[in-house]
Amino acid sequence: MSVCNMAARSRCLAVALLFIFSGAFGLPINQQEKDPTTCGYQSCHSTKANMLNVHLVPHTHDDVGWLKTVDQYFYGDRNDIQHAGVQYILDSVVDQLLKNPDRRFIYVETAFFYRWWKQQSSSTQQTVRQLVDEGRLEFVNGGWCMSDEATTHYSAVIDQMTLGLRFLNETFGVCGRPRVAWHIDPFGHAREHASMFAQMGYDGLFFGRVDYQDRGRRMAEKEQELLWRASESLTPPMADLFTGILPNGYNPPEGFCWDQLCSDAPIRDDPDLDDYNVDDVVQRFLHAANSQAMVYKTNHIIMTMGSDFQYENAILWYKNLDKLIHYVNAQQANGSMVNVLYSTPSCYLQELHRANLTWPLKEDDFFPYADDAHNFWTGYFTSRPALKRYERITNSNLQTCNQLEVLAGPASRKGPFGKGDSETLRKAMAVAQHHDAVSGTEKQHVANNYAKMLANGWQHCQVLVSNSLASLSGSSAERIYCDNLNISVCPLTESSKKFSVSVYNSLAQPLSWPIRLPVNGTAYRVADAKGKPVDSQVVPVSRSTQEVRRNRGFAMNELVFQVQAPPLGYSTYFVSAIQDAPPLFPPRSGAPTGIQNKYLKVTFDPDTGLLSSLSNLETKQTIKLTQNFYWYNASVGNSESSQTSGAYIFRPNSSTPIVISKVAKVQSLQTSVVQEVRQWFSPWVSQVVRLYADSKALELEWTVGPLPVLDKRGKEVITRLDTDIKTSEIFYTDSNGREMLQRRKDFRPTWQLKQTEPIAGNYYPINSRAFLKDDMNQLTVVTDRSQGGSSLQNGSLEIMLHRRLLYDDYRGVGEPLNEASEIFPEGLVVRGRLLLSLDHPASAADTHRPLAQQVVFQPLLTFTDGDLSPNARLEFSGLQAALPPAVHLLTFSQWDEESVLLRLEHQFQSWESKVNSHPVTINLQKLFSTLDVLGVSELNLSANQWKDEMKHFSWAPQKEETPMLKQFEDPSVWEVTLRPMEIRTFLLRVSRK
Ligand SMILES: *[C@@H]1O[C@H](CO)[C@@H](O)[C@H](O)[C@H]1NC(C)=O
Ligand SMILES: *[C@@H]1O[C@H](CO)[C@@H](O)[C@H](O)[C@H]1NC(C)=O
Ligand SMILES: [Zn+2]
Repeated sequence: MSVCNMAARSRCLAVALLFIFSGAFGLPINQQEKDPTTCGYQSCHSTKANMLNVHLVPHTHDDVGWLKTVDQYFYGDRNDIQHAGVQYILDSVVDQLLKNPDRRFIYVETAFFYRWWKQQSSSTQQTVRQLVDEGRLEFVNGGWCMSDEATTHYSAVIDQMTLGLRFLNETFGVCGRPRVAWHIDPFGHAREHASMFAQMGYDGLFFGRVDYQDRGRRMAEKEQELLWRASESLTPPMADLFTGILPNGYNPPEGFCWDQLCSDAPIRDDPDLDDYNVDDVVQRFLHAANSQAMVYKTNHIIMTMGSDFQYENAILWYKNLDKLIHYVNAQQANGSMVNVLYSTPSCYLQELHRANLTWPLKEDDFFPYADDAHNFWTGYFTSRPALKRYERITNSNLQTCNQLEVLAGPASRKGPFGKGDSETLRKAMAVAQHHDAVSGTEKQHVANNYAKMLANGWQHCQVLVSNSLASLSGSSAERIYCDNLNISVCPLTESSKKFSVSVYNSLAQPLSWPIRLPVNGTAYRVADAKGKPVDSQVVPVSRSTQEVRRNRGFAMNELVFQVQAPPLGYSTYFVSAIQDAPPLFPPRSGAPTGIQNKYLKVTFDPDTGLLSSLSNLETKQTIKLTQNFYWYNASVGNSESSQTSGAYIFRPNSSTPIVISKVAKVQSLQTSVVQEVRQWFSPWVSQVVRLYADSKALELEWTVGPLPVLDKRGKEVITRLDTDIKTSEIFYTDSNGREMLQRRKDFRPTWQLKQTEPIAGNYYPINSRAFLKDDMNQLTVVTDRSQGGSSLQNGSLEIMLHRRLLYDDYRGVGEPLNEASEIFPEGLVVRGRLLLSLDHPASAADTHRPLAQQVVFQPLLTFTDGDLSPNARLEFSGLQAALPPAVHLLTFSQWDEESVLLRLEHQFQSWESKVNSHPVTINLQKLFSTLDVLGVSELNLSANQWKDEMKHFSWAPQKEETPMLKQFEDPSVWEVTLRPMEIRTFLLRVSRK
């Protein structure tokens, strides 16, 4: 343990406590502290330098929900759907590990392990601790789940990893810390995930799925193991991650699956019996090993001995693996040069590291993923758009819940509204990051279960938020939550003559944000926290809103006004109805020539009602812009391939999408606060083009569904923006909401692509934004959820909004993606928003970075009926001052009684902005208005290791380059400097002022 210094305060405290307790209970220290020399890399079996070493890795892949819910998988319920019971897997594996100390097992998904652990007796727990301490049971990855990589946002991924890894550290200490990231199943791999894993201190990443053409080339050139440089902005090796592509997905080589779910021949080793097969098994195995060795670089290879939900009856696997090792190695006496051993991914990685080679460098990502010529896994980028949006909003609500738990202290968890907590939602959100959750590739009943868990978690958080606001404001008036404002439903505002709205802003900068509230009056007085009148307008609810809300609300109108909220705090607005106000004018029919505010102007084609141009009035830029809606006709298979379009796969049956309508029926209304052009394309597609007076972005609020399928044709609806920006078929998409990646039609940066699906093979995930640019203009589109998209023509950007399919796509889910619900038995209707901004390329990020964060971390509105108590505090900020625009307050949550987890993020890339792409220094002691910071310790990104104890394997890229290891120093212990795209994680010891 290092010396106590200022920067390691909390840790020193922990060490001191350990001494006190060990004294009190009279136990020698060494019985409490784990001996790190028997787990991790030290526990690996020895290998033979002159032989081919085959690392057998017994493992199970346990989806945190897919065909069954997470609970059903844990208990082994509903085995009629799929035979799988995780509790039995862990029971059985622990038993079998005890039978032979050579055996190894890895476990991955902490969501399952945590449940199982809670149910074990203390003696079983002790036994398992010993297995972990001796490296016989090893955790890899260790997040709550194995997250999806295409459709997750980095904020939620970091949270779910932190949750899982914290449990492992607190339960097992240093021997519970995974060394290896293990993403064997996700359907394509995001560069931002690799960057995060590097910053979480992993020594390497392994995965199973890679495009078949990419794999072919890599096999030929022995490049299935590589060094991924996963950030353009972070100084190497900060985001460098060794990456290994597994030989066989994550399955065993053919013929060697000995699980009860498989039917390969067991090893029959009684020579007296007729069907003795040891020689056959050994020969087949040696053959498999030698051919695998031909496509990897070192004299070590890895074999994944397991698969989905295997090892429920672990003796089948282990008994045969024991024999395999015995008989294959026995051949060494006869000159065989193959050595087989029980191993783990980290033991294999250690040998690769020892090999001291250089590795090919990769700087792009692994999207899209195709497993054959007509099988592109690009449909799930959009599948279940409603769940994707719900997950995104819920992440925002969780951040608010976390922040208010800190800001209001213990009063948040127990207060006038009862007991609230953030854990329930934290766990539900963590489960929702799974690669069959937010990805949309689960069965319908499982999707419903994810949504239910999120809703339940949010209920727990609502109590916490109400308690917190009561404590901070001094008013225990009941807080009402209106989760359906997107369809203009809120019983309170619809009926009340007098109410207040609190706007909580979780960002570290002041917020200015337009709100629309469903009302039935025609005029309202709105005042801010200081009593100053606020300009507001009432507009009639649109026809499509009335249709989509069905009978859930009855508001005739919407009250629109702009609110301001301080950083990390709230502001309160008062609304009262004006009696006897005149009726509203109905919207005008027909398209206006244009609408504009002080920043933007948009024009419409009077003949079609479609958008025709967009101008930035400040910079005097104008682009041609038309936008319309189309659908791809889903393939049901054809003579080239039987592949259908489904939950995972996107396969249109023609490259030409069908236009829904060439013209839109249009109504418009123009007020001082908002201008709207309402476009109606068909009974199942409509849109509001909306420009608020104070907004630098144009809002396109689309409503799509129920997609008609009476014609028996599956439909995948896109919107396409066509501009005169000269893009040379290049466009840009974000990776998990952070760094941007360049995309080019029919092109992959690291191999010669043979394009076989001109549409689906050009689709990429869009998490929060995409843009088109040339030398003059950049059009950025900020999305409100993860979607798929592409640019198939110069100047054009298409985004897939909704999909409804009538056939399964043969990747296991066994259902067509055909969503309906009680309210929408004829098919789901989905509504969302795209925000468009037009800027010079050199300054576009100054607009789209903060804009995207406002959409991702949208403010939380709470309502109270009538008057608030007279002394209520109407405005509050948890910060002493706003943080600079470059800095995002990524995490602010209670860690334990006395400490708080803080993540500060530089949200600009190094090349992106003249103004913001510079290092920024923040003084931690001057950050908060109500908290004193007493101590600070820096952690890795996942908060399971002290920063100064992080030790990486270092890996050399093949390309020679100038050494870059510049060491940056903070100005002082309290002042921390953030460089472009850097996230820094701190544990703060705090007290309330
Ligand atoms: C690794 O290789 C480099 C040169 O390629 C050599 O200088 C270095 O000593 C080697 N390290 C070990 C541990 O073998
Ligand atoms: C890991 O857990 C141990 C207790 O097992 C604790 O003392 C230590 O502070 C934790 N490490 C981190 C980085 O939180
Ligand atoms: Zn999986």
